[in-house]
Amino acid sequence: MKIAVIGSGTMGNGIAHTFAQFGFPVNLIDINEQALNNALNTISKNLDRQVAKGSLSEAEKSTTLSNITSFTDLKTGVENVDLIVEAATENLELKLKIFKDLDQFAKPEAILASNTSSISITQIASVTQRGAQVIGMHFMNPVPVMKLVEVIRGYATSDETTSLVMDLSKKLNKIPVEVNDYPGFVANRILMPMINEAIYTLYEGVAGVHEIDQVMKLGMAHPMGPLQLADFIGLDVCLAILKVLHEGFGNPKYAPCPLLVNMVMSGNKGVKSGEGFYNYSNGIKEATVSPKFKKPSN
Ligand code: CAA
Repeated sequence: MKIAVIGSGTMGNGIAHTFAQFGFPVNLIDINEQALNNALNTISKNLDRQVAKGSLSEAEKSTTLSNITSFTDLKTGVENVDLIVEAATENLELKLKIFKDLDQFAKPEAILASNTSSISITQIASVTQRGAQVIGMHFMNPVPVMKLVEVIRGYATSDETTSLVMDLSKKLNKIPVEVNDYPGFVANRILMPMINEAIYTLYEGVAGVHEIDQVMKLGMAHPMGPLQLADFIGLDVCLAILKVLHEGFGNPKYAPCPLLVNMVMSGNKGVKSGEGFYNYSNGIKEATVSPKFKKPSN
């Protein structure tokens, strides 16, 4: 089975890495040549971690890398593949455009999957002529490490497509979980309100960044506290998902905390921008506890 992955950012390169590691030929596609080179370097470094841990041999690393071919042209990259996983930027217009093109360029029997974290699979499928073959395949970051694939059935997704994607996920040594297509699916419907509440807890001055994260790490055995996790996911991504939940359900309980909105507007997007709830300069993570994060006093 031949795979194409669209988008070579954090999720795209992790998805390509994982398919290639388990023996699938992968076409990694991005419009930006430099982004593709960076992605291949990242994959190589992440494979080195696995080699250093003894979970992968040097020979398996080379085979994994040789399974990946990069493309800047969408049509050439997808025309001969059986499954396409789109992991482009989380933007509705962009995804609709990509799926329209995929429907035109991919083989009629090919399955079109999206790694979207919150955009409706049913809406994405609606711009294609093959709704039964459109599905959500939501991997978690870091993809080579996290066991879950949230498999999202759109309104028109067929049983056949769903079972193929469930079985395929198992071949990647992942555990697939099937869910229906409603805002935020399951993962982000539960995760994002927790992150938003942690931000409100900071905003209302109940506790500092470090304290909030320590409570959730030590008290609930979370590997990262919610504020560190928000930085890791990207504050812009968290805000976009909360907006989907807020608009999708029309329920004020999903309204994003004004502090999150301000941080994103000011360019503080977490790890990727160098600062969020923590500062990441010099490779050291330090809590950015500053009065600007406090709710203004009356
Ligand atoms: N590729 C390959 N291996 C990687 C890796 C990568 N990108 N990142 C980490 N690893 C490996 C490390 O080599 C290490 O391997 P061993 O267990 O064999 O030693 C292991 O993962 C743990 O890594 P580290 O020792 O560097 O650090 P850690 O113990 O702090 O774990 C973490 C890092 C796995 C990221 C952990 O902190 C964690 O699980 N955090 C929470 C992650 C999470 O919740 N992800 C979901 C985010 S939500 C999402 O993705 C979806 C969405 O829609 C928003």
